[in-house]
Parts: sequence; C-alpha cells; structure tokens
Amino acid sequence: MTLINVEMKDKIALLTLNRPEALNALNSELLRELYDRLKALEKEDDLRCLVVTGSGEKAFAAGADIGEMADMNPDEAEEFAAFGHEVFSYLSTFPCPVIAAIHGYALGGGFELALACDIRIAADTARFAFPETGLGITPGFGGTQRLARLTNAAYAMELIFTGRRIKGEEALEQGAVNRLVPASELMSEAMKMAESIAANAPIGVRMAKEAVQRGLDLDLDTGMEVEAELFAECFDSSDQKDAMQAFLKKEKFTDFQNK
Ligand code: CAA
Repeated sequence: MTLINVEMKDKIALLTLNRPEALNALNSELLRELYDRLKALEKEDDLRCLVVTGSGEKAFAAGADIGEMADMNPDEAEEFAAFGHEVFSYLSTFPCPVIAAIHGYALGGGFELALACDIRIAADTARFAFPETGLGITPGFGGTQRLARLTNAAYAMELIFTGRRIKGEEALEQGAVNRLVPASELMSEAMKMAESIAANAPIGVRMAKEAVQRGLDLDLDTGMEVEAELFAECFDSSDQKDAMQAFLKKEKFTDFQNK
C-alpha cells in the first residue's frame, strides 16, 4: 500500500497522505515515502505547483505517530525529529510552490506539515492544535520555529503551552492560514490557486519563493542583496525575454517554457 498518493493534474501534483485509518498520522514510513515522492517530482520538468492534502473526511494529519514515538529513547527521538525536519525543510524549499489544503484535524506534526508549506488553505472543518505538551513533549517537526515566525512568538507559545484547539477563523485572523473556505470547495479552491501559479513563469515564481524563504532569516539589507541576485538570474531566461517582448507588442504571453 502506498502512503502517499500522487496524481498529476496538468502541471500540478496533488499529494495525498494516505493513512486514513490512523488519521494520516506521520510515521517514519510515511515521511520516507513523502521524501522519495518529492525527490521524484523534483525531476519533472513540467511541474509548477504541489498541493498537499490528507485522505479521509476527518483529518489533514493528526500528528506524528504516537505509537511509534511512545518507547523512543532520546537518541531515537532526536533522529525522528531530524528526519521530520529534513522532509519538511525539503518541502519548504521545494523548487515550486506548495499549497496545503487542510480539512479536519491538523494537529502536532500535521499542523507542522501545513506550516512547512508555502500557502495554507483551510476548510471550515479544519481544527489546529499542538497537543504535544499534553503528551510530555515539545513539537518536534518545526512547530516551535515556524509558527513563531509566521504569526508571532507569544501566540505560538500560547498555542503550544496550552494545547488549545483553534478553528479556521482564528487561524486566518492570526495569519496562520491564507484562506478559509467551505469544506466542499477546499480542493477546487486549492487547485484554482495552483492553476493561477502554474500560469506564470516558473523562473519568476521559483526565484520569488527562494527570495522570500532566504530573506526570512536575513536582515533587510542582506535580503535585498539576495533579491537582486535572484532578480538578475531571471534575466538569463527566454521566458523573461519572451514575456517582456510580448508586453511591448501589446500581446499576452502564456507559453512559458521554463527556460
Ligand atoms: N498517532 C498514532 N495514531 C493516531 C494518531 C497519532 N497522532 N492520531 C490518531 N491516531 C489513530 C488512533 O489511535 C485511532 O486508531 P485505532 O482506530 O487503531 O484505535 C485512529 O487514528 C482514529 O483515531 P481516534 O479513534 O482517536 O479518532 P477520534 O475521532 O476519536 O479522535 C483525534 C481524533 C482527536 C485527532 C485523536 O485521534 C487524537 O487526539 N489524536 C492524537 C493527536 C495528537 O496528539 N497529535 C500530536 C502527536 S505528537 C507530534 O505530532 C509530535 C511532533 O511534533 C513531532
């Protein structure tokens, strides 16, 4: 059985966590498969956007697998967290945008998976929380770092210390998700956004993602230098030349070649 389903829809890859009987809990096997699927997708020339979601009605992902973690010693736990970090960092630096389409539970590692994506669309059924402190642990797949950066440190600490479960409205208000939609429209909204990304020049989108991601850890002036360097790289592409020439001829250019 495959734990990650991958479906190509034109230039968009839909990745579905496929462990619904355990509410898509993230065990090592699923994380490994996610990593391997991403490696294979990275070789696809035509790929423009990823959408990540969970199978079943109830959950995006209900966290790291508690059964697997229960008897870990500190060394094993460190290795487990390091592998989670590696997979999620790979997703967050993946060379095309990644959209999380979140319904139902996004708890612990499931919330962290969503936070590792570039854009989050939540269904009105989405419920977010960090239950880790109630299990005697901290979040271990990036939650302490990513939520604090995305929202603010005090809000991240409140959610982590209390384990309080929040709905999509609050996540939206706090900037933890980009959009909130009815559950019945979740996948169509995610695909629509992916399509609008896929319609733009891959080099522009890729360099913009890299500029934002790298800039997050830099002071403003160094971030501007990174932006200038990536901006300049776009001018080495035929897509930039063709799109700008088309504009000057008052034509709309859509035939991006990823070159
Ligand atoms: N790990 C392993 N199995 C899990 C799981 C998890 N995180 N979450 C759910 N499951 C399993 C349940 O054990 C159950 O399996 P069985 O049918 O074999 O008993 C199945 O999924 C369905 O779950 P429930 O029967 O519990 O469903 P429910 O609707 O009654 O409750 C829930 C849903 C509130 C999400 C509840 O399952 C729950 O609290 N899950 C755990 C959530 C959690 O604590 N997540 C954080 C994990 S720690 C972490 O993620 C650390 C990290 O950062 C790396």
